Amino acid sequence: MKVLITRKLPGEPEKLLKKNGFKVSVYKEDKAIPRGEFLEKIKDADAVLSLLTEKIDKEAIDNFSKCKIVANCAVGYNNIDIAYAKERKLIVTNTPYVLTDATADLTVALILACVRRLREGEQMMRENKFDGWKPNMLLGFDLKGKTVGIIGAGRIGRATARRLKGFGVKIIYFDRKKRDEFETEFLSTRVNLKELMKQSDIISVHLPLSKETHHIINKENLSLMKKSAIIVNTSRGDILEEKALIRLLKQKKIFAAGFDVYENEPNINPDLRTLENVFLLPHIGSATVETRAAMALLAANNIINVLNGKEPITPV
Ligand code: GLV
Repeated sequence: MKVLITRKLPGEPEKLLKKNGFKVSVYKEDKAIPRGEFLEKIKDADAVLSLLTEKIDKEAIDNFSKCKIVANCAVGYNNIDIAYAKERKLIVTNTPYVLTDATADLTVALILACVRRLREGEQMMRENKFDGWKPNMLLGFDLKGKTVGIIGAGRIGRATARRLKGFGVKIIYFDRKKRDEFETEFLSTRVNLKELMKQSDIISVHLPLSKETHHIINKENLSLMKKSAIIVNTSRGDILEEKALIRLLKQKKIFAAGFDVYENEPNINPDLRTLENVFLLPHIGSATVETRAAMALLAANNIINVLNGKEPITPV
């Protein structure tokens, strides 16, 4: 049976797949496989190990002639038409659990970068503009005693809250369901989105992208933020109405924002690059050697299970 891997990945999932007797083809270039080539190559694949850069829409799914599983090497799966996959009895898996800690670590890095103005400080050093310690230079704010609003209290939201607890913050959350364990662990209360936007000093976004969550943090919600507050997003860009956020940042109506994800990646809104009060990262939430290898191997193991007639490990 044939497995298509759409990019060379850490962890060498192709070795594991070959050891299990599969024929593996890997798209060799370090860029997204061109659409035409992808549509062609999936025609005779029994399984596809895909990335979030591949759109697995109706057209792609109709090109599968014998594919049983799409193992997406990401926790998010908004690149896949799940409803149509289900209709076509195609199994879809993702890579939860293994990237939770790496993503939460990066979220905390973004938060610290924003509240302590790391970007401006770093730029000052590179431009050789540091002319001595000054009592009023690059003042940020303390985390201690502040209120953190976690939007989406699932695995990554919770791991982020766990890390932030050590800074002495108060944690509130918004989620479509009440999360009892989250509430007990962080002495936290569930609030509606508007309340969260109003009360929080630090807002961290951890929702999966779906029709329901697209632009859930809209212009109206964003306008409720405190002037001293920051917002960071390590989930998906489309959850935030980016233009409205950029407007607030331009007018200095909030303190700062940290982005790891964007609407319309990788063509980010050019205004972002000109703003002082933003910290920009290129979608690297799970980008550690260990985590990326674990994700690729989990995806490969999902394929091995399904092609051997067993249950997938992490089905969507
Ligand atoms: C990365 O963005 C992922 O969804 O794993």
